[in-house]
Amino acid sequence: SQSESSEDSEPDGATEDQEGAGATASTVQPLPGPPGRSPFSDGSPAGSGQPSAASTPGPETAAASGPPRHPARPAVFIPVNRTPEMQAERLQLPILSEEQVIMEAVAEHPIVIVCGETGSGKTTQVPQFLYEAGYGSDSVIGVTEPRRVAAMAMSQRVAKEMSLPQRVVSYQIRYEGNVTNETRIKFMTDGVLLKEIQKDFLLLKYKVVIIDEAHERSVYTDILIGLLSRVVALRAKRRRPLKLLIMSATLRVEDFTQNQRLFARPPPVIKVESRQFPVTVHFNKRTPEDYSGECFRKVCKIHRMLPAGGILVFLTGQAEVHALCRRLRRAFPASRSQPPGKEEDKDSSEEMRKFKKSRSRAKKARAKALPHINLDSYSVLPAGEADEDREAEADGDEEAALGSDLDLDLGDGDSDGGAGGGASLLDASLPLHVLPLYSLLAPEKQAQVFRPPPEGTRLCVVATNVAETSLTIPGIKYVVDSGKVKKRHYDRVTGVSSFRVTWVSQASADQRAGRAGRTEPGHCYRLYSSAVFGDFEQFPAPEITRKPVEDLILQMKALNIEKVVNFPFPTPPSVEALVAAEELLIALGALQAPPKTERLKQLQRSRLSCPITALGRTMAAFPVAPRCAKMLALGRQHGCLPYAIAVVAAMTVRELFEELDRPAASEEELTALRGRRARVAQMKRTWAGRGASLKLGDVMVLLGAVGACEYAGCSREFCEANGLRFKAMLEVRRLRGQLTTTVNAVCPEAGLFVDPKMDPPTESQVTYLRQIVTAGLGDHLARRVQSEELLDDKWRNAYKTPLLDDPVFIHPSSVLFRELPEFVVYQEIVETTKMYMKGVSAVDEQWIPALLPAYCQFDPPLEDPAPTYCPERGRVLCHRASVFYRVGWRLPAVQVD
Ligand code: CDP
Ligand code: MG
Repeated sequence: SQSESSEDSEPDGATEDQEGAGATASTVQPLPGPPGRSPFSDGSPAGSGQPSAASTPGPETAAASGPPRHPARPAVFIPVNRTPEMQAERLQLPILSEEQVIMEAVAEHPIVIVCGETGSGKTTQVPQFLYEAGYGSDSVIGVTEPRRVAAMAMSQRVAKEMSLPQRVVSYQIRYEGNVTNETRIKFMTDGVLLKEIQKDFLLLKYKVVIIDEAHERSVYTDILIGLLSRVVALRAKRRRPLKLLIMSATLRVEDFTQNQRLFARPPPVIKVESRQFPVTVHFNKRTPEDYSGECFRKVCKIHRMLPAGGILVFLTGQAEVHALCRRLRRAFPASRSQPPGKEEDKDSSEEMRKFKKSRSRAKKARAKALPHINLDSYSVLPAGEADEDREAEADGDEEAALGSDLDLDLGDGDSDGGAGGGASLLDASLPLHVLPLYSLLAPEKQAQVFRPPPEGTRLCVVATNVAETSLTIPGIKYVVDSGKVKKRHYDRVTGVSSFRVTWVSQASADQRAGRAGRTEPGHCYRLYSSAVFGDFEQFPAPEITRKPVEDLILQMKALNIEKVVNFPFPTPPSVEALVAAEELLIALGALQAPPKTERLKQLQRSRLSCPITALGRTMAAFPVAPRCAKMLALGRQHGCLPYAIAVVAAMTVRELFEELDRPAASEEELTALRGRRARVAQMKRTWAGRGASLKLGDVMVLLGAVGACEYAGCSREFCEANGLRFKAMLEVRRLRGQLTTTVNAVCPEAGLFVDPKMDPPTESQVTYLRQIVTAGLGDHLARRVQSEELLDDKWRNAYKTPLLDDPVFIHPSSVLFRELPEFVVYQEIVETTKMYMKGVSAVDEQWIPALLPAYCQFDPPLEDPAPTYCPERGRVLCHRASVFYRVGWRLPAVQVD
């Protein structure tokens, strides 16, 4: 779940706001040279988009050999009116002294790499250099960021520095942006640029593209660099050069420079000297288990013994951050300059306030919403008192399921006084201004850390790894590093995700230490021994090696890159991962399966080259993962499309429900949390309904939540009252709108209206939806362990999946937790204390051969490989054949109709 993650990236998905993009395109004046055509219009696939002359080894040589191809820096100079204060502030930045070097390199080379520490001024200054040099005068300077927050914040900052309005320095993220005809510098997420490449492979509206934060090695960043290496070569051939800047906060750029396939000649690397003050690193002698407690002790010590200067603590997740903040606030009561009880107990008091408000609002919302709602499916009922008790029992289960987060925090309450080393001693100290920082924190709260702390207090920021590179907090002198990070771990073979707290890499630890030396010499306290540090990995592994790649492969196939193994990845995903992705896409019908013998040969030689199908192209047009895209493609039948869209949107936007499994600071808060949990569980049951609808399980809950929320006008009050994340629900609404538009574009006869309100599905539509979901999630099928198979107690209520030896279970938060259908499909398996399936929906076993023939063996084999389901007669038309699911599960014999 998102809230368990401390990985602070918010990847954007490959989507864009079409209006925004279109508006910009229309303003770009035609550049000299032949009009741009898609590289595919003449039939040459992008994968082979190398410079045509065999003697030309790569873009680099092309640059050197023909000055007209890469004209020197435009002679123009576009003046910028900066305020004197702003100008003075800029001059402090180390990158300013490199302006000339950077601009000359850009003039001479098509591709340039700029390395400089976080805070050296890369993101804010380089776009300004380019603007002043005229690269934006009749074109757009594009800058990609891996995070939405960064794209928005940086566009605002740069606009302010340049005294230009946001219609000139703009941003574009998944659904929103302020790009206009006048936009000259455009910050966007990498997903947005990737989608633009699919529309216009040559990216003709840009003269320069900057890939920022390349050291993070997000999947999209890596793919963009691979694609842009080809775009640069093609643009050079067409004499409409594109400049590519890659910016990195670390010097680890060999994957870009030493990669012959990517750039035939290594691009120049410009290093920006950091103006870093020395940071003294202190290792612990021993490495304590309880790093959270150790952080607390260390902060106490620093605060009591060491001179003024801000403290920055690195922990792994939101819950830990809040727990430590609370302990520290209790140990060092907040500033006298603030009204008591305002700052220090914000979490719990706010929680209470919200809860009380949400209760009274819930009543009002209910009173308002009910008349419009169909009682059966979308009705909103109050949580009964009796239910609260029942839920309290279930709590234990859920908390256990959550695992490590809570273990750390629950015990904290009692130990506070003792661990602090005596409250009286601590009380004598200065007040500590304690602030949390993590990516899901509301932006206005995030912004607090950049303001100076109240007079006479010391700033202490407790953060996740979001503070490692992307944000620079002023005035930090002491860094306390737990050495830990929480990462989503994805198992390639089984598809199981788990959140694991692991050691950071040496590079990350050094980044963290560096945060202490921004304004004066500083100290970094590492809560682990130097021997342990020696065993850390040197660098974090690029994301592309850690994630499933099926959506990426589908996008690439849609760009006509058939032989994905030949793509110039900075770091290629494993062949195993590529094969798994192709197999899934073949099963979904997005890629054309070669004959079996041919496929075997391909696999043996690792030459994967399945072409995309018409269905695959349609699926690639939807900005969602392939499994979901398949559901959309099937959704037109029986008027299910609006529901399929709602379901897919809700599945794509992560975590519709608020995290209520957090530890509570006080009895009061605990009661409040319990109450809310009970209410959410009650609402889930209501939305799931009974009978046919309950079989759709958690998918029905999503549909019910979206439907009910829209009937209530998607109001903040409704969301708060029902444990839904307001921001997520707004995103679902936007994504539904976007998917509806896309469906209409792909299939005009669908003629869908963009109306957020929908009537509940009929009973038969619910059944079709279950089939649609089964077809999309077909590789995520699980079967309940039969009583004769029960080996021991750990298999009670367990399910078996084809790829896992271990038992998996329905997550306690699922409405099917107690239903235990024989066959289910699930959205994902998350490993905490056990392997849990989330997003579960029941499957009728006789559907399996019909809907998932790719996973079934028929004996005798079918001549016509696709049996068809005949909904009117409610049966499968098929040969008389024995059917086995891929792991040998025998399914009921299929009747010949
Ligand atoms: O990209 P890089 O990390 O190299 O630096 P940057 O983001 O361009 O930031 C350069 C400096 O601008 C930082 O050290 C901050 O002090 C300042 N800055 C700021 O004051 N407010 C912002 N919103 C962004 C940056
Ligand atoms: Mg930056």
